[in-house]
Amino acid sequence: MTVTIVGSQLGDEGKGGIVDVFGDDADVVVRYQGGDNAGHTVVHEGEEYKLSLVPSGAIRGKVNVLGNGCVVNPRTLFDEIDALRERGLDPDVRVAERAHVILPYHRLLDGIEEEVKSEDDDEIGTTGRGIGPTYEDKAGRRGVRVGDLLDAEVLRERLEYAVPQKRALVEDVFGLDVADLDDPDALDVDALYDEFSEYGERLAAEGMTVNAGSYLAERMADGANVMLEGAQGTILDIDHGNYPYVTSSNPTAGGACTGTGLSPGVVGDGEVIGIVKAYLSRVGSGPMPTELGGVPGDTPGYDGDPEDPQTEREELAVYIRDEGHEYGTVTGRPRRVGWLDVPMLRHAARANGFTGLAVNHVDTLAGLDEVKVGHTYTLDGEELRTMPATTEQWGECEANLRTFDGWEATDWAAVAAEGYDALPENARTYLEYLEAELDAPVYAVGVGPGRSETVVRENPF
Ligand code: GDP
Ligand code: IMO
Ligand code: MG
Repeated sequence: MTVTIVGSQLGDEGKGGIVDVFGDDADVVVRYQGGDNAGHTVVHEGEEYKLSLVPSGAIRGKVNVLGNGCVVNPRTLFDEIDALRERGLDPDVRVAERAHVILPYHRLLDGIEEEVKSEDDDEIGTTGRGIGPTYEDKAGRRGVRVGDLLDAEVLRERLEYAVPQKRALVEDVFGLDVADLDDPDALDVDALYDEFSEYGERLAAEGMTVNAGSYLAERMADGANVMLEGAQGTILDIDHGNYPYVTSSNPTAGGACTGTGLSPGVVGDGEVIGIVKAYLSRVGSGPMPTELGGVPGDTPGYDGDPEDPQTEREELAVYIRDEGHEYGTVTGRPRRVGWLDVPMLRHAARANGFTGLAVNHVDTLAGLDEVKVGHTYTLDGEELRTMPATTEQWGECEANLRTFDGWEATDWAAVAAEGYDALPENARTYLEYLEAELDAPVYAVGVGPGRSETVVRENPF
């Protein structure tokens, strides 16, 4: 069977940790979208691993596949594999021949376009990994696929077509001089060909490429359990998220089919687990109706004035950010923090069809007198239970907060060992509210970053 792990919010919900917890019974772990914009944390035997591209199953010796829906930067791929080897692991990573390759000019263009947009404060706040430009080329039918790296002639042909266009974009559209760029080789066909055909040789030598769909179907026919590891989250989905403040792929459950070659029937026959952070964090731009406060030093109007009603919210944001270590895994950026946004979660539950939930960071909220959630929104005098379709309307939504009694910090590892009923009663009330609103049972509760700090109520496999 399959278990699909999907971020229900804006990324960084703790997907990596849950893949690790439920991955015990998986034979194969597959990423189905995104690239090295992800940052998934797994804590194993006190060691912290931060993975941006390699699936989280690498930490426990699973077979790991980057599906056809992914965009793969071979530099990152081999750096990450080599770094894991240095730490004593021997990751088995396969890459779909149909996955698209992130080339240096994609990163370059990601940076240039963000810079241009930032002149009008319109930047997305991307991770700068070239994700958008790579998916653009995929849709524009001028991309380079992983399979192309193994065929020198095809690779050269593709580069000779694409690179002059990119050069013209940089020079004629954005008005930059290629010679002045930090990495002028990013637009040099020969340099790109030399570097990327070498990656192709290494992929071939290590037998790393697969036809993902048929490989996974064969493994499943032999009885293998497959875990599908989403990156990013539902509100960063290019179709179901808050466009244009999104990534360029489909983190939602439908992406697990198109991004692997497993059919919707196969994925739908399995479980789809929504990963929920018990509050909300966001890196990058865009609305956030339940936002408590921005980033200190970077937030207009936050001056620490105790008379200012905003100050209390800002302090709460700082408290939650510090308790939850809310700093970007990939970029180190401080994350924006807010209360849980339930209309957002109702939208996610519908778009993904969650069969179960994992709620993380219940420990992070411990110690607060009150925990609030945005229960509904008000827009133009009307109450909404779910997100409107346009980002402009979403930005005008006012959250109607509901207040829960807080819970105290406790020996969380002991709670995890004892089980769900050992959670503080007020925390259980909070979780049961979520189950009722999203019509899905809570399978796991995160009470700390490690696997032994996860309350497992139900194993989806
Ligand atoms: P992902 O991108 O969804 O895999 O999440 P990230 O790894 O970017 O961010 C989650 C962060 O929270 C990591 O530092 C995790 O170790 C940590 N984390 C995950 N679950 C919990 C939890 O239940 N409690 C606490 N305190 N930390 C958690
Ligand atoms: P994980 O898998 C949080 C955000 C970026 C930006 C937008 C587009 O760790 O949850 P991109 O580089 O993808 O073009 O950026 O999406 N973003 C993430 N935010 N977690 C992530 O991944 C993210 N990946 C991208 O900050 O707002
Ligand atoms: Mg992350």
